[in-house]
Amino acid sequence: MRIPIIAGNWKMYKTEEEAFQLASELQKRLKDVNGVKVILCPPFTSLSSVRKAIENSLILLGAQNMHWEEKGAYTGEISPHMLLTAGCKHVIIGHSERRSYFSETDEFVNLKVKSALKFDLSPIICVGEKLDQREANKTEEVVEIQVKGAFKNLSAQEAEKTIIAYEPVWAIGTGRTATPAQANEVHTFIRELLSSEFGKQCADKINILYGGSVKPENSKELLGMPEIDGALVGGASLDAEFFEKIVRNAIES
Ligand code: PGA
Repeated sequence: MRIPIIAGNWKMYKTEEEAFQLASELQKRLKDVNGVKVILCPPFTSLSSVRKAIENSLILLGAQNMHWEEKGAYTGEISPHMLLTAGCKHVIIGHSERRSYFSETDEFVNLKVKSALKFDLSPIICVGEKLDQREANKTEEVVEIQVKGAFKNLSAQEAEKTIIAYEPVWAIGTGRTATPAQANEVHTFIRELLSSEFGKQCADKINILYGGSVKPENSKELLGMPEIDGALVGGASLDAEFFEKIVRNAIES
């Protein structure tokens, strides 16, 4: 049995102080919550304030990106070792915004995934097709290339420590969501792909989250689908009430 995961991707929102307040509010609201793993991924500058706010809770800290090297002359970059020592347990890798605005390739994603695992960070690996690719019936082809690229040269033992987020690009921040059936179909395809690469036992351990305009109103139905093991939430994760509702819907579904 996979425990559902609800991860908040705060993107480039919240100052240190604002992040502390939101995380403290969530910590209070989610005190009694059991049976779901909650991860908050604030911007780098707020990792330390969020860490303080969630100190005595089950909420976990994650980052939104990282470099694959441990250290070095890479101006503006953050290393996996830095994230680990900042209290992170997870790191989002290959988000579609990084792929499209910062030219991240499957090769970079693979380097980052391998490095995250080496540093005991569980990567949340994002994959998903663009609208024209879906309309051209290329969803599975695109997702297969991204999954195979991200997991290249990984052992089954490494693969089972990862989390996948299926995020159709046309659904991110647009208010358009994949229907639960559409999402479940791609999740099933991803699980089969993982099973053929790493064996069923390993594939069954990997949480596959859905992401793309997840809101309290649509989360129950999405999270109720058999192959949807949680959600990566952007916009709605910036509102404590909305995020709390999504987390509670994950327990009920
Ligand atoms: P959204 O973002 O919930 O605002 O669509 C999801 C994501 O980008 O991870």
